[in-house]
Amino acid sequence: MLQGKDLLSIHDLTVDQVEHIIDFAAQLKTLQKAGIPHRLLEGKTLGMIFEKSSTRTRVSFEVGMYQLGGSALFLSNRDLQLGRGEPIKDTARVLSRYLDGIMIRTFGHDRVLELAKYADIPIINGLTDLLHPCQVLTDLLTIREHKGKDFKGLKMAYVGDGNNMTNSYLYGAAKVGMTLAVATPENYKPDQEVFNNALEDAKETGASLSWTADPVEAVKDADIIATDTWASMGQEAEHDERKKIFAPYQVNSELLKHADKRAIVMHCLPAYRGEEVTEEVFEANANVIFDEAENRLHTQKAIMALTMADSDSLL
Ligand code: CP
Ligand code: NVA
Repeated sequence: MLQGKDLLSIHDLTVDQVEHIIDFAAQLKTLQKAGIPHRLLEGKTLGMIFEKSSTRTRVSFEVGMYQLGGSALFLSNRDLQLGRGEPIKDTARVLSRYLDGIMIRTFGHDRVLELAKYADIPIINGLTDLLHPCQVLTDLLTIREHKGKDFKGLKMAYVGDGNNMTNSYLYGAAKVGMTLAVATPENYKPDQEVFNNALEDAKETGASLSWTADPVEAVKDADIIATDTWASMGQEAEHDERKKIFAPYQVNSELLKHADKRAIVMHCLPAYRGEEVTEEVFEANANVIFDEAENRLHTQKAIMALTMADSDSLL
């Protein structure tokens, strides 16, 4: 159902496609844990373009491709001609002649759109300033594992900076029918166009999406609390200023008193203890957070297999 397609934003996916990715990721996880081979991409090559740093994305895509029977190439913009000004549209057409798919992590979302426009192989968004779809699809699998299959009965609160994770959570919650309350400072809200699109998507599933400046209000009775760094990649110069502005948005034990007693805390990592989350809260939720990190592998294998396999008869 996704064969030959790009994975640029959860907004582009149907409700069924989102569900299928999560189900298929869970199946691949079971196969991998049982040691059963699942070489769905034998002989295929993924190019991985990185214009920003990464630990999880790089390693999980590369290992995932290997487990699927294919191989992956790490392409840093420090080494590519792209980093010296070769246009994306030329890079896209050249790489399409060698590779079977491209994962890209970059700054402006328009760069991914441009790559997808000119490439004739599947493009996977490995994070832009606007969106981080692979991470949020992963988080949905992780929520399902820890909180059960029925997203519709769950409330998630996102507390912190209205960034690429927040935007993708809005799209993800809208597709699975989950309640999502976002708390950010007034001047650091999620992207308005994303919010509007997500509200449209939510009409199909009955998801409830809201924004408030008050973290206590967002967290009230929440089953899941998510946060992320206050200074994303590219915002390093604003770090000190942001630390002051976001201080009331720290996920700490005081804030968690307002959530459901069995609430879990999620973090896409890397985490900055003492900033967006305390050491105590982080370590108390380490099992969930590292399941979340592991699930990048399974979810991205599902995405790669579904978009890059020649036949979907096995999928
Ligand atoms: N969560 C995430 O995308 O991690 P990396 O930046 O290490 O890839
Ligand atoms: N919002 C963070 C996510 C890192 C995985 C960033 O863009 O740096």
